[in-house]
Amino acid sequence: MARPKIALIGAGQIGGTLAHLAAVKELGDVVLFDISEGIPQGKALDIAESGPAAKFDGSFKGTNDYADIAGADVCIVTAGVPRKPGMSRDDLLGINLKVMKSVGEGIAAHAPNAFVICITNPLDAMVWALREFSGLPHNMVCGMAGVLDSARFRHFLAEEFNVSMRDVTAFVLGGHGDTMVPLTRYSTVAGIPLPDLVDMGWTTQEKLDAIVQRTRDGGAEIVGLLKTGSAFYAPATSAIEMAEAFLKDQKRLLPCAANVDGAYGLNGMYVGVPTVIGAGGIERVVEIKMNKDEQGMFDKSVDAVKGLVEACKGIDSALA
Ligand code: APR
Repeated sequence: MARPKIALIGAGQIGGTLAHLAAVKELGDVVLFDISEGIPQGKALDIAESGPAAKFDGSFKGTNDYADIAGADVCIVTAGVPRKPGMSRDDLLGINLKVMKSVGEGIAAHAPNAFVICITNPLDAMVWALREFSGLPHNMVCGMAGVLDSARFRHFLAEEFNVSMRDVTAFVLGGHGDTMVPLTRYSTVAGIPLPDLVDMGWTTQEKLDAIVQRTRDGGAEIVGLLKTGSAFYAPATSAIEMAEAFLKDQKRLLPCAANVDGAYGLNGMYVGVPTVIGAGGIERVVEIKMNKDEQGMFDKSVDAVKGLVEACKGIDSALA
């Protein structure tokens, strides 16, 4: 059976890391696409040349021609600009919306059956716009944010409790921005919910609140340190987890930006919710019960995303 084909639209920091991870995990043949000439070709060749030592097989092609993504099974989109210190994700809206138009058209023309994972920020609005521009089915277009935000939360919690990151589960829902909603009641160490761990004296409510805030600011913390761009290792690893769930029909329950139509009282908008990812793409949106506080935070986050979508419609009348 032929290897799956993975197209990476954008060959920058995240795109290059995605290609390397896909190679090492032998997920399939990789095509790196970018408008910048030489960068995708150079990265593809460099990764291919690491194959003999890393012991993987696969084909790696860098290109500036959308025709080369033809028939891709998965497209992961990182094309656009990342933020610099002092910028919010929302500041990228105008520039990256134009990029989503060309990427959406490119995918529609050459890889209309692909499972598309968007990473470009501001995430929830960009994945909505990418779906609109591409016209692909909603279940085949999603955004990577919840896996990353939850991974940051899990890392901070594992450090606090001095336990393995593998035994910490966490849920972060809502939009991928300052209003994201880390759900402590649904986050556990080996099944023990965080509120119980506070009662058990493993941590204090104050420390937990500080970890929640650090999670919300997780992206900005990295931007502040790097100064020249934003995070790339953890975002790439998170998107690869989603791509693998699709390619291997794993039916993973992962939080991601999905089209929510009916659940959570929403009718047709992209926002971070728990989903099941398998061969059918986003096979299910899982509706969990929220208490009053959680619902309040989620509603605020939904409103922030709606504001960004309205801003997109104001910029490009084709979206209105
Ligand atoms: N089509 C294809 N590629 C494009 C286009 C376009 N229209 N416009 C820009 N690019 C490419 C750039 O040439 C660059 O190589 O997108 C790449 C982006 O790479 P980086 O600048 O290194 O950004 P990266 O850190 O990978 O982040 C990409 O993901 O997390 C988000 O906020 C982040 O929106 C940003 C995106």
